[in-house]
Amino acid sequence: MILITGASRGIGKYLLTHYHQAGFPVSGTWHSTPPEDDLAGHYHQVDITDPLSIDHWLDALGDRLSQLVLINCAGSNYNAFAHKANLKTWEKVLATNLTGTFTLIRALLPSMREQGYGRIINFSSIVAQSGVPGTSAYAASKAGLWGMTKSIAAENASRGITINNLNLGYFDIGMITEVPEALREVIRSRIPYGNFGDPVNILNAVEFLIQSNYINGSSIDINGALH
Ligand SMILES: NC(=O)c1ccc[n+]([C@@H]2O[C@H](COP(=O)([O-])OP(=O)(O)OC[C@H]3O[C@@H](n4cnc5c(N)ncnc54)[C@H](OP(=O)(O)O)[C@@H]3O)[C@@H](O)[C@H]2O)c1
Repeated sequence: MILITGASRGIGKYLLTHYHQAGFPVSGTWHSTPPEDDLAGHYHQVDITDPLSIDHWLDALGDRLSQLVLINCAGSNYNAFAHKANLKTWEKVLATNLTGTFTLIRALLPSMREQGYGRIINFSSIVAQSGVPGTSAYAASKAGLWGMTKSIAAENASRGITINNLNLGYFDIGMITEVPEALREVIRSRIPYGNFGDPVNILNAVEFLIQSNYINGSSIDINGALH
């Protein structure tokens, strides 16, 4: 089964729709945006910052949890210069993007280890490596995924489990669509490719990672040569 968090919008929804249409068993999560389309039966409401909420989702899936692929798209952002940042809001970004992602991985690892198979794909960001003003919380959370991923990969590689990150640049889907047009133009003008990425590049990378058993603890940059 393919599990996708943050599937109510953006990249997660795009991947859930693709894998459902391709005939794979899927389950996606929404948090505050209820699903409205015909995929609604494949969704659960989950807050990944709440371990009980995660447990309810996994309990509901029961013995369908086999041949697991976990795609961690859920994420949030907070824009503030550090000297003006609200600590609680800053911590919430870490709680979602890093600790929440870890909590779900931790909950699934026992099944994956027992079954001798698992694929875990995390979503990191170019922002973690390029120093964008106002993004200290988001950047810290996304950089944290890299270290976490390497450690979990080393712990579980002998059990048929891989875990990797996709470091995304700017894609024409999800978060970037909420940025004001003027700022979108500034970002677009900095991308050597000349435009935002087509989400099919994300799908191709996800497929590649699902099919590989020796790429483990790695990160793949997908960014149109923006570094
Ligand atoms: N789009 C890009 O160009 C880009 C670039 C770099 C990295 N990324 C990363 O790629 C991933 C997907 O990005 P996106 O653009 O598709 O994001 P998005 O459109 O903003 O969607 C974020 C998703 O995360 C969910 N979410 C937020 N807080 C949650 C929580 N506490 N528990 C469970 N789910 C929660 C949201 O659910 P609700 O709406 O239901 O609340 C939504 O489905 C993110 O991790 C993002 O950081 C994206």
